[in-house]
Amino acid sequence: MTGYCRGMESAPLASGRDADVFVIDDRRVLRRYREGGDVAAEAVVMAYVASLGFPVPTVHRAQGADLVMERLDGPTMLSAFLAGELDAVETASCLADLHHRLHALPPRLSDGGDVRILHLDLHPENVMLTSRGPVVIDWRNAAEGPADLDVALTAVILAQVAVEGAHPLASSAATLLDAFLECVGGSALTALDQAVARRRTDPALTGTERERLDAAAALITGRR
Ligand SMILES: Nc1ncnc2c1ncn2[C@@H]1O[C@H](COP(=O)(O)OP(=O)(O)O)[C@@H](O)[C@H]1O
Ligand SMILES: [Mg+2]
Repeated sequence: MTGYCRGMESAPLASGRDADVFVIDDRRVLRRYREGGDVAAEAVVMAYVASLGFPVPTVHRAQGADLVMERLDGPTMLSAFLAGELDAVETASCLADLHHRLHALPPRLSDGGDVRILHLDLHPENVMLTSRGPVVIDWRNAAEGPADLDVALTAVILAQVAVEGAHPLASSAATLLDAFLECVGGSALTALDQAVARRRTDPALTGTERERLDAAAALITGRR
């Protein structure tokens, strides 16, 4: 193991809910899960979708809780939206388009039917707007299943922020949710119950977030 993987003493470039991301050099970052874990499965999915032309960071190395990958330029979709560089319709249609492109790929494990590769956490902080176009990061939850489940999860994630009255992004999330539901039509509803059930078991959720899941689902059904 080389030095940079032993411990990144410098401040992270960014920190998400689960991971810290450190700069290695101009071309590479290290993403490290704070609570440990194994990135092997997500690295395999990333390599697979990349081989089919889907935009993800190139993975250089996956070991334990550490993923060394291509350093992406550009802001997250969330920062671009909040900065007014993208409006709600552009943001939502970009998210919908990424779902569409991902779900057009042949699954890696299953053999057909309606089973597709799913990201299951495809929200505006997990997309980076780079010079080569939007790139999807954070494949921890990736799995295979019905495409509508992925779409419904994006709606649930946006709705969870929208129903949290005190959240500084609540009204932005509500606007984005409306635009996203408009883009995806009925797809967000067919697997809504399944999406809520899945989200309920997500260990990354706080108790309060879990309690607001029913309100989030009601917001989605009410808006359609
Ligand atoms: N390949 C990358 N290049 C540059 N920045 C990145 C890269 N991957 C992640 N980031 C930054 O780190 C943040 C957290 O990464 P993410 O994989 O979403 O972790 P988490 O699971 O903690 O949400 C992202 O929102 C983004 O700002
Ligand atoms: Mg993330």
